[in-house]
Amino acid sequence: MATLSKIATNDRHGENTPYFDGWKAYDRNPFHPTQNPKGVIQMGLAENQLCFDLVKEWIAKNPHASICTPEGIDEFKEIANFQDYHGLPEFRQAMAKFMSRARGGRVTFDPDRIVMAGGATGANELITFCIADPGDVFLVPSPFYPAFVRDLGWRTGVKIFPVDCYSSNNFQITRAALEEAYEKAREANINVKGLIITNPSNPLGTTLDRDTLKTLVSFIDEKNIHLVVDEIYAATVFNSPKFISIAEIIKEMDCINRDNVHLIYSLSKDMGFPGLRVGIVYSYNDAVVNCGRKMSSFGLVSSQTQYLLASMLSDDEFIENFLAESSKRLAKRYHTFTKGLEQVGINCLKSNAGLFFWMNLRHLLKEQTAEGETVLWRMIINDVKLNVSPGSSFHCTEPGWFRVCFANMDDETVQVALKRIRDFVCRGQESSSEPPKKKRWQQNLRLSFSSRIYEESVMSPLMMSPHSPIPQSPLVRART
Ligand SMILES: Cc1ncc(COP(=O)(O)O)c(C=O)c1O
Repeated sequence: MATLSKIATNDRHGENTPYFDGWKAYDRNPFHPTQNPKGVIQMGLAENQLCFDLVKEWIAKNPHASICTPEGIDEFKEIANFQDYHGLPEFRQAMAKFMSRARGGRVTFDPDRIVMAGGATGANELITFCIADPGDVFLVPSPFYPAFVRDLGWRTGVKIFPVDCYSSNNFQITRAALEEAYEKAREANINVKGLIITNPSNPLGTTLDRDTLKTLVSFIDEKNIHLVVDEIYAATVFNSPKFISIAEIIKEMDCINRDNVHLIYSLSKDMGFPGLRVGIVYSYNDAVVNCGRKMSSFGLVSSQTQYLLASMLSDDEFIENFLAESSKRLAKRYHTFTKGLEQVGINCLKSNAGLFFWMNLRHLLKEQTAEGETVLWRMIINDVKLNVSPGSSFHCTEPGWFRVCFANMDDETVQVALKRIRDFVCRGQESSSEPPKKKRWQQNLRLSFSSRIYEESVMSPLMMSPHSPIPQSPLVRART
């Protein structure tokens, strides 16, 4: 008898991708400015750590908001006993108001449509359970968030059908690309249940314009399929154009069937609270709200967290200041990084949101293939000691793109990271003036790749995971 179930043993948890491999290299040798200055810098984590000083200040000023302080302890019993899956009414109200603010106040949300989940991770799975059956597919424009494979598919049995997008038009989602993917799935007898998009995009850091959003809505309306919009990065927009929520679009397109439109939200990015596991499904469909609420029993937000956030999120002055300051700091960080890279000839896709940018290293690839990208990625991890994520883990159609997270470190670490990249590129340029020898980085690429292949029997990043049985591999053990 097999010990584990079919779900437990299928590989749709997605941990066998480079996206997770890089974390392992970091875990084994994390950078510290004084204790481990040659360690790996973590640039693969989309965390927003730029405004914790503001949160700390608010917590100190508002001891009554916690049930574990002398000022709040009288509420402890009632809150610790609370287990209603509707959630605390004041939490839902504060969430609805915050969601509106995070979208520039141009739309409002009904607190009665707010369904809780364990982060956007839980919210994405919950909506999938509600609207799709095993074997159905969701169209997902590429490049896309790697963990969608796990969130949408591991336990539900639903699959992702990529909509290929290309750098020639800055990875925009076109009607033609949607139609092509839809027809391909239909020809293969696959039931397309919906389209899932992330706006602002992870990994591109771009926002969708009004025309594209309207195209998407018309597309799903004509095909009578669902549209799920993951707006987890809504308030990370730090530059124009401003963010346009799907809520704004359906307000303008009043003749479409709103029953097929659902929004996913979370406080993991905009507030920088991934550990609090606050995820939201906001559906315009009553049946989905009703079923989703029952299903949320599997992933409620703890009442202690709801209580704290009800207070914090309804403090208008704090939230106003926090969102403005956060976007200012993100803009500054983005500018520092991308300008620093430009100086050594590295370009990034122009973006205006998110906690990362999409870096173009095609000119450094020895071969314009996925393997060529992997070779370069291994060098960046093992020799430059930066954990950036390769485009292949985002199912990017073109090799040479890398996602670089920039909001999970302090200013000093940014300078160290930039210096490492500059040194790496300059080493290559210096040796290029020594014909007929190859550029040093090219030599390194070839040498490091071939010798490591020889040393290690497991090479493809697609075969490795942070929990694979080869944690000692020098491939992932970045050396000091
Ligand atoms: C697009 C997208 N959706 C969902 C998630 C998961 O977020 P959470 O921490 O709220 O589960 C992430 C996290 O990186 C993300 O980028």
